[in-house]
Amino acid sequence: MSDRNGIAARTSYRESGPADLAAIQALESIVYANAAAGLSAGLINGQDETLSCVAELDGQIIGHILMVEVTGPDRALALAPHAILPAWRDMQIGTELVRFALDLARRRDWHSVFVFGQPDYFCRFGFRSDTADCAETPAQGSRFLALELRQAALAGWSGRLDYPQAFVELAVMPRRQ
Ligand SMILES: CC(C)(COP(=O)(O)OP(=O)(O)OC[C@H]1O[C@@H](n2cnc3c(N)ncnc32)[C@H](O)[C@@H]1OP(=O)(O)O)[C@@H](O)C(=O)NCCC(=O)NCCS
Repeated sequence: MSDRNGIAARTSYRESGPADLAAIQALESIVYANAAAGLSAGLINGQDETLSCVAELDGQIIGHILMVEVTGPDRALALAPHAILPAWRDMQIGTELVRFALDLARRRDWHSVFVFGQPDYFCRFGFRSDTADCAETPAQGSRFLALELRQAALAGWSGRLDYPQAFVELAVMPRRQ
């Protein structure tokens, strides 16, 4: 247990840069055994604004999170992908990485974040399904969640929310009918 605590204490969190891209791709190809392994690189190199952060242990990237702007409410992001290498899970590293990225998004004046994920995991950060009900998207349902980074950011908004096309092409998100 103390070893696990020591690992968590030695882990640091920072925004990623171009030199990290190969390590992020390697991490994703371990975690996602499908085409989604290339999602982050495609998004980072794409047209939409991204916010990408890594967890680093002894110089090795062991976790990654990406947020990308979506078309819908003003200054809204989608959170995905987010992964920790299997050997380093259940040490609170994912939780700390999400918190770090959300703080950074707040400081960069993003107003809200949407995620299609596990409510049990994402509710600890304040994500809620009913906050996301305003969005018209094929991903709508109990696993489609949102967090307001700015108070009442989504109050009074409803309408179509579109993820970047890469999510649909790689089958990470359901396709519109
Ligand atoms: C989800 C993931 C990022 C969590 O990272 P982690 O560093 O292991 O998470 P933490 O140690 O901070 O938190 C562990 C907690 O999350 C919970 N948890 C982990 N994976 C979960 C999942 N898929 N669904 C629900 N809860 C989950 C654990 O039960 C634990 O709960 P507790 O704190 O109440 O005990 C990691 O398991 C992972 O990379 N999974 C594969 C990729 C993935 O599913 N990403 C999320 C997609 S958006």
